[in-house]
Amino acid sequence: MNSDKKYILSLDLGSSAAGAVLFNRQGQVVRQLQKEYEKYYPQPGWIEVDPNEIWYTMLSVMEELVATAGIQASEIAGIGIANQRETTVIWDRGTGEPVYNAIPWQDRRTSKLVDEFRYQGFSGLVQRKTGLILDAYFSASKISWILDHVSDARIRAEQGQLAFGTIDAWLIWKLTAGKTHVSDLTNASRTMLFNIHTLEWDQELLRLFNIPHQLLPAICSNSEVIAHTAPGILEAGIPIAGVAGDQQAALFGQMCLEPGMVKNTYGSGCFALMNTGAKPVASDHYLLTTIAWRIGENVTYALEGSVFGGSSVFRWIRDGLGLIESTAEIEELAQTEPDNGGVLFVPALSGLGTPHWDPYARGMIIGITRGTSSGHIARAALEGVALGIADALDAMEKDSGRAITELRVDGTSATYDFFMQMQTDILQYPVMRPRVMPASATGAAYLAGLATGFWTLQEIKDQYTIARVFSPEVPGNGKLREKWQKAIARVKNWDL
Ligand code: G3P
Repeated sequence: MNSDKKYILSLDLGSSAAGAVLFNRQGQVVRQLQKEYEKYYPQPGWIEVDPNEIWYTMLSVMEELVATAGIQASEIAGIGIANQRETTVIWDRGTGEPVYNAIPWQDRRTSKLVDEFRYQGFSGLVQRKTGLILDAYFSASKISWILDHVSDARIRAEQGQLAFGTIDAWLIWKLTAGKTHVSDLTNASRTMLFNIHTLEWDQELLRLFNIPHQLLPAICSNSEVIAHTAPGILEAGIPIAGVAGDQQAALFGQMCLEPGMVKNTYGSGCFALMNTGAKPVASDHYLLTTIAWRIGENVTYALEGSVFGGSSVFRWIRDGLGLIESTAEIEELAQTEPDNGGVLFVPALSGLGTPHWDPYARGMIIGITRGTSSGHIARAALEGVALGIADALDAMEKDSGRAITELRVDGTSATYDFFMQMQTDILQYPVMRPRVMPASATGAAYLAGLATGFWTLQEIKDQYTIARVFSPEVPGNGKLREKWQKAIARVKNWDL
């Protein structure tokens, strides 16, 4: 390891913003920056983003970060990538131009197509091979949709002219100026085309979704030198050395390295993952079985609860209702009331994930009376997110046969103290917040740091510290959880 290399650069491309974080050798954040990018809503239930805009936003964040940190790009030992998963991009291998906008994970346009597969009895096959629940959330049906709706796309795909990638693959393609078409195992495991047991693209699933193999990227592990940056991108030759889906990266960044350890990330959605060790644990309670990471020859698996409503709900309260000016203000507004005033908010704005898997569910605010205030609604929104996570964690205890005794938390909304106390009181076990966040960027940095010899595993473990532990302050509220189940039952199949 060259001693003139002083930093690891972590790129965190989430569902609403492109972020970059610069870490020094002590694992401290030297500087971080993020910029939001535009999302388009062409029809109810549809979401699109422009892949070129994602890339240019990411590039400008990287360049600005390095310039304002007062460092030289030549001092960067490696780049790590953590990205929103499932979001689907298809582009032309020759021109590098996307053939259609990216279809993000929240998009529900392919729900009917997925229903067909379910009616035909393919749920078991899909779950056995991929660990996933047959749902429009994952990439497979989004790829099919693009191939079926963009003129000539299917023929060009069959002729090998097009490339598919989740956001990691798209970023690596751009960072290497089109030289490298590769995705890592964690992102591949979210496409619904990847066999998590053989660790290969699955021919039977490709046939089922009618997707040509020629579209697909090569697969890499999570901590290895995959490629190098092209000239003009910061500086030529910086190793791209760690890549993982943001939720798996956060599990690693939270140092949940032992089976049974659990984290939840509060991003646009909320994703709770439990490390289950070297063997995949099949779920009987509608969780996902997914690859946590592969380092060298060792594969680690996880159980995941995916709760689609997270800060996207607080953003809707900001932008859709105009009740707050910044999402962080939701806490302040919630605290203007001592309780929820009988109001419940089911944050199913993009349908329901774990454990309901209902793409037709929609959000609901119920229990409104003449006395309801905006504070009640804010409080109910926070509770709705926290209750959804509690359901996912309950399912996780049942599937894993392990009692969860503590939860590590990260993501922007995990910085909200009042919200975290509320989560703790609902769960009735300690909630722990680490010193360094975002954990997804930290995890990607760690993976890149390990691959480049910048850090050893022991150094990383020593760097990880908990900044705050929340302990239950009031007894569990069984009534609230009962009411919540009643409310959930009412939103199901709403848009069918
Ligand atoms: O599966 C979707 C997830 O990766 C998105 O994460 O943090 O952008 O909401 P986030």
